[in-house]
Amino acid sequence: MSTKEQTYIMVKPDGVQRGLVGDIIARFEKRGFKLVALKLVQATTEHLEKHYADLKGKPFFPGLIKYMASGPVVAMVWEGLDAVKTGRVMLGATNPLASAPGTIRGDYALAVGRNICHGSDAVESAQKEIALWFPEGLVQYTNTLEGWVF
Ligand code: PPS
Repeated sequence: MSTKEQTYIMVKPDGVQRGLVGDIIARFEKRGFKLVALKLVQATTEHLEKHYADLKGKPFFPGLIKYMASGPVVAMVWEGLDAVKTGRVMLGATNPLASAPGTIRGDYALAVGRNICHGSDAVESAQKEIALWFPEGLVQYTNTLEGWVF
């Protein structure tokens, strides 16, 4: 059964610098998701190490943190039916070599170390990531389209 969820989606520094922010936002808007938080952030190493804490032992961890700290990211929360799973489908496979055309990574990326965007992989991780990136809370508003788009 479909449930209304919130997911954390982040445009990584390469996505920001390549001018892909608008396209990524447009894809989520057009799909029918509701934007409930958005900001441009130059994240600290400490903050990024918290976000990627589960990957601390991986050989690519230092490079991942350096890449993610190399410029600002766009942090967003999108809400809607099955937002976590559908968000991941829209992003495409983590390694762009395996990402289907039509997905964000499948259209714009070639390497896993420069894969443009991040999306929560489960409802529990979405909740943790949203709390980490938006400690101030989300924006509460009624979308007048509700009833047409869930
Ligand atoms: S793993 O090894 O299965 O736990 O990794 P995976 O789930 O595929 O990816 C977790 C995040 O690590 C990023 N990643 C990398 N970054 C840089 N270089 C390399 N080689 C690399 N491999 C994986 C990957 O993009 C995931 O980050 P997010 O932000 O979730 O996309």
